[in-house]
Amino acid sequence: MATLPPRLEMRRISISFAGFQALKDVDFALEGGSIHALVGANGAGKSTLMAILSGTYGHYQGDIMIDGEPVAIRSPRQAKMLGIHLVQQEVDVALVPTLTVGENIMLDHLADRGHILRWPALYRQAETLLAQLRVRLDVRRHIQRCTLAEKQQILLARALSHHCRFLILDEPTAPLDREESARLFDVTRRLRDEGIGVVFISHRIHELAATCDRLTVMREGRRVSEGAMKGLNSGHIIEKMLGHPLAAIFPPPRPPAGREILLQVAGLHDAALLKDVALTLHQGEILGIAGLAGAGKSELCKALFGAAPSRIGKGILAGKPWRPGAPYEQVKLGMALVPEERRKEGIFIDEAIPMNLCVSADDTFSHWGWFNRRRARDWAQQVVSRLGVRSAGLQQKLSRLSGGNQQKVAVGKWLRGQARIFIFDEPTKGVDIKAKQDLFALINTLALQGKGIIYASGEFSELLGLCDRICVMWDGRIVAEVDAHTADEETLLLYATGGAPA
Ligand SMILES: Nc1ncnc2c1ncn2[C@@H]1O[C@H](COP(=O)(O)OP(=O)(O)OP(=O)(O)O)[C@@H](O)[C@H]1O
Ligand SMILES: [Mg+2]
Repeated sequence: MATLPPRLEMRRISISFAGFQALKDVDFALEGGSIHALVGANGAGKSTLMAILSGTYGHYQGDIMIDGEPVAIRSPRQAKMLGIHLVQQEVDVALVPTLTVGENIMLDHLADRGHILRWPALYRQAETLLAQLRVRLDVRRHIQRCTLAEKQQILLARALSHHCRFLILDEPTAPLDREESARLFDVTRRLRDEGIGVVFISHRIHELAATCDRLTVMREGRRVSEGAMKGLNSGHIIEKMLGHPLAAIFPPPRPPAGREILLQVAGLHDAALLKDVALTLHQGEILGIAGLAGAGKSELCKALFGAAPSRIGKGILAGKPWRPGAPYEQVKLGMALVPEERRKEGIFIDEAIPMNLCVSADDTFSHWGWFNRRRARDWAQQVVSRLGVRSAGLQQKLSRLSGGNQQKVAVGKWLRGQARIFIFDEPTKGVDIKAKQDLFALINTLALQGKGIIYASGEFSELLGLCDRICVMWDGRIVAEVDAHTADEETLLLYATGGAPA
């Protein structure tokens, strides 16, 4: 007799935080041997629902059943005992920075009772798990030296170090490039075929239809739709998410940029990766930097902003000789950087929204040491409505905002200063489709005002829709420059993988 696949059900789940109701009567069902996509705008409640399932919050209302039996999940330990494992959205929070890759993978077993630590065996086990995921990574390496993609894989390996029946992946592909995402989807499909029930949260809607079996859509703390994925395309999913179809996501074409050069760089090197980078940015131009993970996009952004050491052959900024100085000097010269790893570099996680929006190193809000709270609050209110930041209130700490809303704040804090050059490093990562549209419109407005924008991304379709010109990076170099109006994704991918047109 065939055994039934494991089945998990959440019924009428509600939860509030300090009076803010984040989830209202949400139903959710997951079956072993299937991949279930969970989508919704930033702040819709996806991570919260999954946090409940994995035992983060004990104070929810509603019932959870596994294989028809009611279960209590009030602590992470209980969830793990039931075979529920979560790879969370903000990976760095779940890793211990002072430990190695192997120790982080086996973390939950380090404290097993009666377990006598045998390091060689522990490392061997970690290696086996990585091999299962087809990941090559030195288990003795320190976490600090790992990329975001690698950290993601470490957490996945950690989940598999247990007996796993239900696996929750909260935006696993956000930090990954196409190749890495494709590999993760392969792994996910294999886990499904082994009978695991997988929840897959993503804002890259287009990835979901091909791989997932079922779809649950959330909006403002409620479930608004549930059903089979078959027959749905991105357009359908987006419409369910927003409650209405989304018109053109990219702004209409702008008049060609001026010829006035804002920034010119030649012979830029850094210690590790960047080699002889040259680029020119004009007034009113959006210059794309395309590349896969590890190509050097972030390194380039940081080097230009002075956030990482570099050597430069020749530099001119607004007509004057220039070389990257410390970031605060760059800010004074009118440069702004929205960095990629926002939790580490872009925001103050324990501060409220106005504070975060007002520290972009200009002194609008303080005068002789006085911080003007009211002005700061008014400005924060403006950004919040312009970018649609969803929160329980302005005074909410950033750590309590959903991942995508944190990203919006990281972007928003630069919109006030007197910057004339904006550097965006993967600004749409983890941001919902509507917020992407808002963000593109905003960047477009900056360009129309004559600012210069450097926009680094691995999302080639977004680069093509938004930019004027695109420089493609591979292995720390700019290997090609294309006109965004005539290029296509295949060409960008070809250059980005080190190829050349036939
Ligand atoms: N611990 C908490 N305290 C206060 N508010 C919270 C807490 N956790 C979540 N929230 C709020 O609940 C709402 C849902 O957040 P959640 O993180 O679940 O959204 P999400 O759907 O995962 O969004 P994203 O796509 O941006 O990751 C948000 O408005 C968030 O601010
Ligand atoms: Mg989330």
